[in-house]
Amino acid sequence: MNQNISLDLSGLDNFISHEELDSLINEANKANKKLESGSGEGNDFLGWINLPNEISEDFFREIDSTAKNLQQRCDYIISIGIGGSYLGVRAVLEAINNSFEAYQSTHKFPQIIFAGHNIGEDYLSELSEFLKGKNFGIINISKSGTTTEPAIAFRLLKAQLEEQVGKEEANKRIVAITDSKKGALRSLVNQEGYKSFIIPDNVGGRFSVLTPVGLVPLATAGINIRSLVQGAKDMINKVSCSKSVEENISLLYAVARTALYRKGKKIEILANYHPKMHYIGEWWKQLYGESEGKEGKGIFNAAVDLSADLHSMGQWIQEGERTIFETVISILNSNRTLTISEDSNNLDGLNYLKGKRVDEVNKMAELGTRMAHIDGGVPNIRITIPKLDEYFIGQLFYFFERAVGISGYLLEINPFNQPGVEAYKSNMFALLEKPGFEEESKAIKSRL
Ligand code: PA5
Repeated sequence: MNQNISLDLSGLDNFISHEELDSLINEANKANKKLESGSGEGNDFLGWINLPNEISEDFFREIDSTAKNLQQRCDYIISIGIGGSYLGVRAVLEAINNSFEAYQSTHKFPQIIFAGHNIGEDYLSELSEFLKGKNFGIINISKSGTTTEPAIAFRLLKAQLEEQVGKEEANKRIVAITDSKKGALRSLVNQEGYKSFIIPDNVGGRFSVLTPVGLVPLATAGINIRSLVQGAKDMINKVSCSKSVEENISLLYAVARTALYRKGKKIEILANYHPKMHYIGEWWKQLYGESEGKEGKGIFNAAVDLSADLHSMGQWIQEGERTIFETVISILNSNRTLTISEDSNNLDGLNYLKGKRVDEVNKMAELGTRMAHIDGGVPNIRITIPKLDEYFIGQLFYFFERAVGISGYLLEINPFNQPGVEAYKSNMFALLEKPGFEEESKAIKSRL
């Protein structure tokens, strides 16, 4: 079995010439060098570039011991966070865990429940009701330590936890992951003495899945974090500047999508054929949308779950405005085997599939869709993962991170800031009359 993720650009043949792709390679190579040397825009946020190589065994052990403490005390862990402080953890958990874990009556590891990624009153109230009388703990993740959504969830759940088990025990069940010095969450840590981990200054939220942001909750849920990190480490070797450009799959992916964008393909859909991949798509949307969408530029990212979305968005993809291209994540080997049986009556007419594995049918859906989309004018990029496990997810994370850095520089924007995320926050604070927002409050209210 091929032990690496691979990239297939043959689905671009009808749309882009080799010369067009080749003409971008030099530019992309320079962009990759800028990333590695730290000489480009946003270079104060390049801590992720070599991060997987910097994680020591002592650090893994510290995480293991925190995870063990939570595992011993809790049946449920509420992982509080939003954006980069949420999506990576959920992506790995959904991809690796049994899809029906939550419905099973016994669990080897605490169940992870997410909060702080919305301000839904029903959601938070139902969560609080569910946790009554349950053994739970909290991992509170916020780099800034001041984000409103997780702060509200933490205030409510911390109070509930203290009421249920007393303050002393509650403090042993709360872990905070935040900035080393700044923010309300760091002040709380200093005040309450919670176990805490630091998110490095030079790693932005959407690049933080391999910091304690991802590693602590994942280790608590029993995920093999060493293997996840190893996958990322091995991908660094494949996509660094010392490797030939022809073999650098992050660089080639960046080249392909940039060439398509420059030819008017403004929308990229990330398609998967396994429901377990849904949150990988959500993580990717944040990484690419927040990194590239600025200064009136950038590919619009959407993710689709196939074949389900072929029965909804499929029509648009096949025949809508021809400004779209598709990147498919293809999983070579399923982890399980399930064969379609024969039925003597064959009333459903499915006997022509008897003896075939479900995955064989899925693969034909994938191939048929790829061919139909290409025929319909949708360029196709294919990323193949040998199988779904921690190691290859680690490879995939780093592959995408490196590619978005290169793509961002090709777009001539700073891929590592997110100034646009602030706009809604300041309106919300003005509307809620947060202290310090008096002028904005007056101004916004005059518009209502
Ligand atoms: O990528 C980013 O930096 C953001 O999307 C953040 O992850 C998100 O806003 C959450 O921020 P914080 O971790 O500071 O609460």
